[in-house]
Amino acid sequence: MKNAEIIAQTEAYVREALAIGGAGHDWWHVYRVWKNALHIAEQETVDLFVVELAALLHDIADHKFHGGDESIGPKTARAWLERLKVEEAIILHVTEIIASLSFKGAKVATPMRTLEGMIVQDADRLDAIGAIGIARAFAYGGSKGRLLHDPNVPIEYHTSFETYKNSPAPTINHFYEKLLLLKDRMNTATGRTLAQERHAYMENFLAQFYAEWEGKI
Ligand code: ADP
Ligand code: NI
Repeated sequence: MKNAEIIAQTEAYVREALAIGGAGHDWWHVYRVWKNALHIAEQETVDLFVVELAALLHDIADHKFHGGDESIGPKTARAWLERLKVEEAIILHVTEIIASLSFKGAKVATPMRTLEGMIVQDADRLDAIGAIGIARAFAYGGSKGRLLHDPNVPIEYHTSFETYKNSPAPTINHFYEKLLLLKDRMNTATGRTLAQERHAYMENFLAQFYAEWEGKI
Protein backbone atom coordinates (compact mmCIF):
# COMPACT_ATOMS: atom_id res chain seq x y z
CA MET A 1 0.00 0.00 0.00
CA LYS A 2 1.30 3.48 -0.84
CA ASN A 3 1.99 5.91 2.00
CA ALA A 4 -0.78 8.27 0.84
CA GLU A 5 -3.28 5.41 0.97
CA ILE A 6 -2.12 4.44 4.48
CA ILE A 7 -2.64 8.04 5.63
CA ALA A 8 -6.10 8.18 4.03
CA GLN A 9 -7.16 4.89 5.64
CA THR A 10 -5.76 5.98 9.01
CA GLU A 11 -7.64 9.27 8.77
CA ALA A 12 -10.91 7.39 8.10
CA TYR A 13 -10.21 4.97 10.97
CA VAL A 14 -9.51 7.75 13.51
CA ARG A 15 -12.39 9.90 12.26
CA GLU A 16 -14.77 7.06 12.99
CA ALA A 17 -13.14 5.88 16.24
CA LEU A 18 -13.16 9.37 17.79
CA ALA A 19 -16.40 10.60 16.24
CA ILE A 20 -18.16 10.90 19.59
CA GLY A 21 -15.18 11.31 21.92
CA GLY A 22 -16.03 14.06 24.39
CA ALA A 23 -13.91 16.27 26.65
CA GLY A 24 -11.47 17.51 24.04
CA HIS A 25 -10.34 14.22 22.56
CA ASP A 26 -12.66 14.07 19.61
CA TRP A 27 -11.76 13.72 15.93
CA TRP A 28 -11.53 17.50 15.52
CA HIS A 29 -8.75 17.71 18.12
CA VAL A 30 -6.81 15.14 16.06
CA TYR A 31 -7.60 17.07 12.88
CA ARG A 32 -6.17 20.28 14.38
CA VAL A 33 -3.06 18.52 15.69
CA TRP A 34 -2.52 16.96 12.26
CA LYS A 35 -2.76 20.39 10.57
CA ASN A 36 -0.53 22.03 13.22
CA ALA A 37 2.03 19.27 12.76
CA LEU A 38 2.11 19.66 8.97
CA HIS A 39 2.50 23.43 9.39
CA ILE A 40 5.45 23.05 11.79
CA ALA A 41 7.00 20.31 9.62
CA GLU A 42 7.17 22.69 6.63
CA GLN A 43 10.17 24.31 8.32
CA GLU A 44 11.94 21.05 9.22
CA THR A 45 13.57 18.15 7.41
CA VAL A 46 11.75 15.09 8.68
CA ASP A 47 9.95 11.89 7.75
CA LEU A 48 6.48 13.33 7.10
CA PHE A 49 4.91 9.88 6.99
CA VAL A 50 5.90 9.31 10.64
CA VAL A 51 4.74 12.82 11.63
CA GLU A 52 1.32 12.31 10.03
CA LEU A 53 0.78 8.81 11.40
CA ALA A 54 1.79 9.84 14.91
CA ALA A 55 -0.42 12.96 14.79
CA LEU A 56 -3.40 10.95 13.52
CA LEU A 57 -3.01 8.10 16.00
CA HIS A 58 -1.78 9.98 19.08
CA ASP A 59 -5.13 9.93 20.92
CA ILE A 60 -6.56 6.74 19.43
CA ALA A 61 -6.97 5.28 22.95
CA ASP A 62 -6.67 7.40 26.07
CA HIS A 63 -5.57 5.88 29.41
CA LYS A 64 -8.14 8.17 31.09
CA PHE A 65 -10.90 6.10 29.52
CA HIS A 66 -9.15 2.71 29.93
CA GLY A 67 -8.71 2.42 33.67
CA GLY A 68 -5.40 4.29 33.66
CA ASP A 69 -3.64 1.81 31.32
CA GLU A 70 -0.94 4.02 29.76
CA SER A 71 0.11 1.40 27.20
CA ILE A 72 -3.33 1.31 25.57
CA GLY A 73 -2.58 4.14 23.09
CA PRO A 74 0.66 2.73 21.62
CA LYS A 75 -0.85 -0.79 21.59
CA THR A 76 -3.95 0.27 19.69
CA ALA A 77 -1.84 2.25 17.20
CA ARG A 78 0.47 -0.75 16.69
CA ALA A 79 -2.45 -3.11 16.03
CA TRP A 80 -3.81 -0.72 13.38
CA LEU A 81 -0.44 -0.19 11.65
CA GLU A 82 0.28 -3.94 11.64
CA ARG A 83 -3.07 -4.50 9.95
CA LEU A 84 -1.94 -2.12 7.18
CA LYS A 85 1.43 -3.93 6.99
CA VAL A 86 3.43 -0.80 7.80
CA GLU A 87 7.10 -1.65 8.26
CA GLU A 88 8.29 -2.37 11.80
CA ALA A 89 10.79 0.54 12.01
CA ILE A 90 7.96 3.01 11.31
CA ILE A 91 5.64 1.30 13.81
CA LEU A 92 8.35 1.49 16.49
CA HIS A 93 8.91 5.18 15.81
CA VAL A 94 5.21 6.11 15.77
CA THR A 95 4.40 4.17 18.95
CA GLU A 96 7.43 5.64 20.73
CA ILE A 97 6.14 9.13 19.90
CA ILE A 98 2.64 8.32 21.15
CA ALA A 99 4.03 6.87 24.40
CA SER A 100 6.16 9.97 25.10
CA LEU A 101 3.74 12.70 24.07
CA SER A 102 1.64 13.67 27.07
CA PHE A 103 2.16 16.40 29.60
CA LYS A 104 2.61 14.74 33.00
CA GLY A 105 2.87 17.59 35.51
CA ALA A 106 4.63 20.95 35.91
CA LYS A 107 7.77 19.37 37.36
CA VAL A 108 7.83 16.20 35.28
CA ALA A 109 10.10 16.19 32.18
CA THR A 110 8.62 14.77 28.96
CA PRO A 111 11.63 14.25 26.71
CA MET A 112 11.14 13.43 23.05
CA ARG A 113 13.96 11.65 21.19
CA THR A 114 13.29 12.52 17.55
CA LEU A 115 12.40 15.66 15.63
CA GLU A 116 9.29 13.92 14.24
CA GLY A 117 8.13 13.41 17.84
CA MET A 118 9.00 16.98 18.83
CA ILE A 119 6.82 18.29 16.02
CA VAL A 120 3.82 16.18 17.05
CA GLN A 121 4.32 17.13 20.71
CA ASP A 122 4.37 20.83 19.80
CA ALA A 123 1.30 20.39 17.60
CA ASP A 124 -0.62 18.65 20.41
CA ARG A 125 0.41 21.30 22.94
CA LEU A 126 -0.62 24.15 20.65
CA ASP A 127 -4.13 22.71 20.73
CA ALA A 128 -4.08 22.89 24.55
CA ILE A 129 -3.46 26.67 24.55
CA GLY A 130 -4.99 29.79 22.98
CA ALA A 131 -8.73 30.12 22.33
CA ILE A 132 -9.12 26.41 21.65
CA GLY A 133 -7.10 25.50 24.72
CA ILE A 134 -9.39 27.65 26.90
CA ALA A 135 -12.48 26.02 25.39
CA ARG A 136 -11.04 22.52 25.86
CA ALA A 137 -10.01 23.15 29.47
CA PHE A 138 -13.52 24.24 30.47
CA ALA A 139 -15.09 21.41 28.48
CA TYR A 140 -12.85 18.94 30.32
CA GLY A 141 -13.46 20.55 33.71
CA GLY A 142 -17.21 20.54 33.04
CA SER A 143 -17.13 16.86 32.14
CA LYS A 144 -15.53 16.20 35.54
CA GLY A 145 -17.97 18.46 37.39
CA ARG A 146 -15.21 20.88 38.43
CA LEU A 147 -15.69 24.48 39.52
CA LEU A 148 -14.59 27.17 37.07
CA HIS A 149 -12.55 28.84 39.77
CA ASP A 150 -12.15 28.86 43.55
CA PRO A 151 -9.73 31.51 44.84
CA ASN A 152 -9.15 29.39 47.97
CA VAL A 153 -7.70 26.38 46.15
CA PRO A 154 -3.93 26.87 45.78
CA ILE A 155 -1.99 26.15 42.59
CA GLU A 156 0.04 22.96 42.75
CA TYR A 157 3.13 22.25 40.63
CA HIS A 158 2.87 18.49 40.36
CA THR A 159 5.97 16.35 40.69
CA SER A 160 4.38 13.13 39.47
CA PHE A 161 1.93 12.07 36.76
CA GLU A 162 -0.21 10.38 39.44
CA THR A 163 -0.85 13.56 41.46
CA TYR A 164 -1.26 15.67 38.29
CA LYS A 165 -3.80 13.28 36.75
CA ASN A 166 -5.85 12.91 39.92
CA SER A 167 -5.99 16.59 40.84
CA PRO A 168 -9.60 17.63 41.55
CA ALA A 169 -8.74 21.36 41.33
CA PRO A 170 -10.94 23.94 39.58
CA THR A 171 -10.29 24.55 35.90
CA ILE A 172 -8.57 27.93 36.40
CA ASN A 173 -5.84 26.10 38.34
CA HIS A 174 -5.13 24.01 35.22
CA PHE A 175 -3.94 27.18 33.46
CA TYR A 176 -1.12 27.55 36.01
CA GLU A 177 -0.47 23.85 36.38
CA LYS A 178 -0.15 23.20 32.63
CA LEU A 179 -1.40 25.63 30.00
CA LEU A 180 0.73 28.69 30.84
CA LEU A 181 3.84 26.48 31.11
CA LEU A 182 3.63 25.09 27.60
CA LYS A 183 5.13 28.03 25.69
CA ASP A 184 8.48 27.43 27.42
CA ARG A 185 8.32 23.71 26.70
CA MET A 186 8.03 23.95 22.92
CA ASN A 187 10.60 21.98 20.91
CA THR A 188 10.62 23.76 17.54
CA ALA A 189 11.08 27.39 16.50
CA THR A 190 7.73 27.42 14.67
CA GLY A 191 5.99 25.88 17.69
CA ARG A 192 7.50 28.50 19.98
CA THR A 193 6.36 31.39 17.78
CA LEU A 194 2.81 30.08 17.50
CA ALA A 195 2.71 29.34 21.23
CA GLN A 196 3.64 32.90 22.14
CA GLU A 197 0.57 34.33 20.45
CA ARG A 198 -1.75 31.76 21.97
CA HIS A 199 -0.14 32.31 25.38
CA ALA A 200 -0.76 36.07 25.24
CA TYR A 201 -4.40 35.36 24.37
CA MET A 202 -4.77 33.22 27.52
CA GLU A 203 -3.17 35.91 29.68
CA ASN A 204 -5.69 38.45 28.39
CA PHE A 205 -8.49 35.99 29.06
CA LEU A 206 -7.31 35.49 32.67
CA ALA A 207 -6.99 39.23 33.31
CA GLN A 208 -10.56 39.75 32.06
CA PHE A 209 -11.79 36.73 34.05
CA TYR A 210 -10.41 38.05 37.37
CA ALA A 211 -11.69 41.57 36.72
CA GLU A 212 -15.19 40.21 36.06
CA TRP A 213 -14.89 37.89 39.09
CA GLU A 214 -14.52 40.89 41.38
CA GLY A 215 -17.15 42.95 39.56
CA LYS A 216 -14.51 45.43 38.49
CA ILE A 217 -15.55 45.76 34.86
P1 ADP B 1 -2.66 15.86 26.21
O1 ADP B 1 -3.31 15.67 24.88
O2 ADP B 1 -1.65 16.97 26.26
O3 ADP B 1 -2.16 14.59 26.83
P2 ADP B 1 -4.82 15.59 28.06
O4 ADP B 1 -5.27 14.32 27.44
O5 ADP B 1 -4.21 15.54 29.42
O6 ADP B 1 -3.83 16.39 27.12
O7 ADP B 1 -6.03 16.58 28.14
C1 ADP B 1 -6.95 16.82 27.09
C2 ADP B 1 -7.49 18.24 27.20
O8 ADP B 1 -8.10 18.44 28.46
C3 ADP B 1 -6.38 19.30 27.09
O9 ADP B 1 -6.86 20.43 26.42
C4 ADP B 1 -6.06 19.58 28.53
O10 ADP B 1 -5.47 20.83 28.75
C5 ADP B 1 -7.42 19.45 29.18
N1 ADP B 1 -7.24 19.05 30.57
C6 ADP B 1 -6.52 18.03 31.08
N2 ADP B 1 -6.56 18.01 32.43
C7 ADP B 1 -7.35 19.04 32.78
C8 ADP B 1 -7.79 19.59 34.02
N3 ADP B 1 -7.44 19.05 35.18
N4 ADP B 1 -8.59 20.69 33.99
C9 ADP B 1 -8.97 21.25 32.82
N5 ADP B 1 -8.57 20.80 31.61
C10 ADP B 1 -7.79 19.72 31.59
NI1 NI C 1 -3.92 15.19 21.89
